Amino acid sequence: MKELLARKAVEFVRDGSVVGLGSGSTAKAFIEELSRAVAEKGIRVTLVATSIDSELKALEVGLGPYLVPPWAVDSIDLAVDGADEISRDRMFIKGGGGAMVREKVVDYRASTLVIIAEAHKLVDRLPSNRPIPIEVLPAAWRLVARDVERRWGGKTELRACKCGGKLGPLISDNGNFILDWVPPGPAYPELEDELKAIPGVVDTGLFAKRRDAVILLADERGVFAL
Ligand code: 5RP
Repeated sequence: MKELLARKAVEFVRDGSVVGLGSGSTAKAFIEELSRAVAEKGIRVTLVATSIDSELKALEVGLGPYLVPPWAVDSIDLAVDGADEISRDRMFIKGGGGAMVREKVVDYRASTLVIIAEAHKLVDRLPSNRPIPIEVLPAAWRLVARDVERRWGGKTELRACKCGGKLGPLISDNGNFILDWVPPGPAYPELEDELKAIPGVVDTGLFAKRRDAVILLADERGVFAL
């Protein structure tokens, strides 16, 4: 399914465009498919990655020469990214891989954003099974956690590093901590800005401002647009 989604997403890549590479396993399938298009069809691209993980994937599949840092581009034509949960009113939660800050930097600026995800990620209520990730300055993590729980309720948890090789909290690509918040009720569009306004919050995995995104979902019957 990820390959089907990746193949469909590659159809959005135009010759000479600046392409944002999302993060996660579905975005990695896209990176692989893109490398095939570049090698076989000679499509020229400039690439901006949303995580170190995606940069490494791009390097692995031969796309390293096309990678530039986000500050080296003036605009982004297309971004292709995954999501953890998508609501029917087209908001999504990202950050299962801890990359939501750079993902938002790139995805929100892309002229066209294509979200690719397996259909089970479409939910009636956001969040359903996943927390809302909140990236915080390390020194502020506990104060932010208290602010969030006091104002909205629910439960926050400091994301632990479960990868082995390091004890304690997970450190994001940006050197920050991540709080995973399970709110007591559904997310609403204004929540994105309300959370971001808390001192110490860098950004969150709640994406409520790209309702214009092309959302491609896949199940055993194939790929379809939301
Ligand atoms: C990483 C993300 C990913 O896009 C999200 O977690 C989906 O990943 P996958 O395609 O592996 O299910 O937001 O921060």
